[in-house]
Amino acid sequence: MWEGEANVEFVEKDVREASLKPTEGRVKSLRPFAMQSLSRKGPVFADHNSIYSKEARPDDISFPSTRFYGSKRRQLTWLREEFKSLEGVTALDAFGGTGAVSHLLRDLGWETTYNDIFEFNIISARTLFSDSTHRLSEDTLLKFLNRVRPTEGFITATFEGLYFTTQENMWLDGFMACLPSELEKNRDLLLHCLFQACLKKRPFNLFHRANLNLRHSEMPVQFGNRSTWNKSFDTHILTTYREVQLAQTARAQSIQVTSGLCAGKIAPGFDLVYLDPPYFKRAKRNTETYLERYHFLEGLARYDEWPSLIDQNSSLRAIKRPYRLEWTNKQELLVNLQHMIKKHSGAKFALSYVADEEPTEEELFNLFRENFDRVRLSRRSFNRVLSKKRPFEILLIGQ
Ligand SMILES: C[S@@+](CC[C@H](N)C(=O)[O-])C[C@H]1O[C@@H](n2cnc3c(N)ncnc32)[C@H](O)[C@@H]1O
Repeated sequence: MWEGEANVEFVEKDVREASLKPTEGRVKSLRPFAMQSLSRKGPVFADHNSIYSKEARPDDISFPSTRFYGSKRRQLTWLREEFKSLEGVTALDAFGGTGAVSHLLRDLGWETTYNDIFEFNIISARTLFSDSTHRLSEDTLLKFLNRVRPTEGFITATFEGLYFTTQENMWLDGFMACLPSELEKNRDLLLHCLFQACLKKRPFNLFHRANLNLRHSEMPVQFGNRSTWNKSFDTHILTTYREVQLAQTARAQSIQVTSGLCAGKIAPGFDLVYLDPPYFKRAKRNTETYLERYHFLEGLARYDEWPSLIDQNSSLRAIKRPYRLEWTNKQELLVNLQHMIKKHSGAKFALSYVADEEPTEEELFNLFRENFDRVRLSRRSFNRVLSKKRPFEILLIGQ
């Protein structure tokens, strides 16, 4: 629904209200965009009192739970509302991450292509958007896990004292040693389950710090759950397997997965391009990159090459940069977005970002206004895990 002479629309809703009473969500303002209303101090018509309650979790499709930085899983009800009036046949999810938005787009009927720059995300997407759990039964999975024998290998030697205990490192080496004996077509699923198990066993679900000591400390924890960290890899792997099974609908299986391209290199030809790039913090000179957060999973995904990828000067034993063409530079984001809009000229674009970061909402809005006839800006406030802040998530749609 597009209104107003200027073809610009601004919509803001309280996420709790919207999810509890979907048909009665308040529209705070619906009027031609007033530039001064998006000052750095915050939009004058923003509702800073919006509340998010745990009971009102807005995820209306059965997509597996994820622990991935920037996942849009909790925003799917909102995105569904925003996307459902868009017309077209083919859609690209250029920064796919967990694949939650690809799943939604396919559910809405789009012929969807998933892309991400990292191999571990591509492996997970191939797992989710296929019939992998039909090919590898739970029984076969359990037999595979029974064959794993802890062994001293590359992981044990390289990551001692960093992320997992010595026994756990040896178990990971044992798992990776067994993997080649499994049929190639089943390895994606096994790796995906392993990635999720590794994330669940990590404080903060990340690899950005070598903080194994947190697992042993007696201090109360506010950044995870000690019993989750201490559960075995096998237990987490089985839980993940069952979640994947539930998500593997016939529709989701028709999502195409790329070989893992830089978003800027993807050939045009889509009716809708959805962009959810890494966001950059205004207050920080360098925002952590996805490679810093998930280098360990990328290493598992490229296990045979891992020794040659490691930065020997890194205390985290992270993968050395430059690595592929991850978008890591906040000064380049606007130019990169402009480049993509030009390249896919004629396509509708949807962009997710966070308000009050860099580039600003105003800069992003201007980019869309310069490139599209009709622009819609919608925003919601969501609680963030491990954060006291409740920032506004924004969605810009240009067509
Ligand atoms: C905010 S997350 C996307 C989250 C995703 N929409 C979801 O719901 O899970 C950004 C993603 O961009 C990916 N990425 C970073 N640079 C990229 C690039 N140049 N091309 C493609 N993907 C990239 C990261 O690996 C990360 O998964």
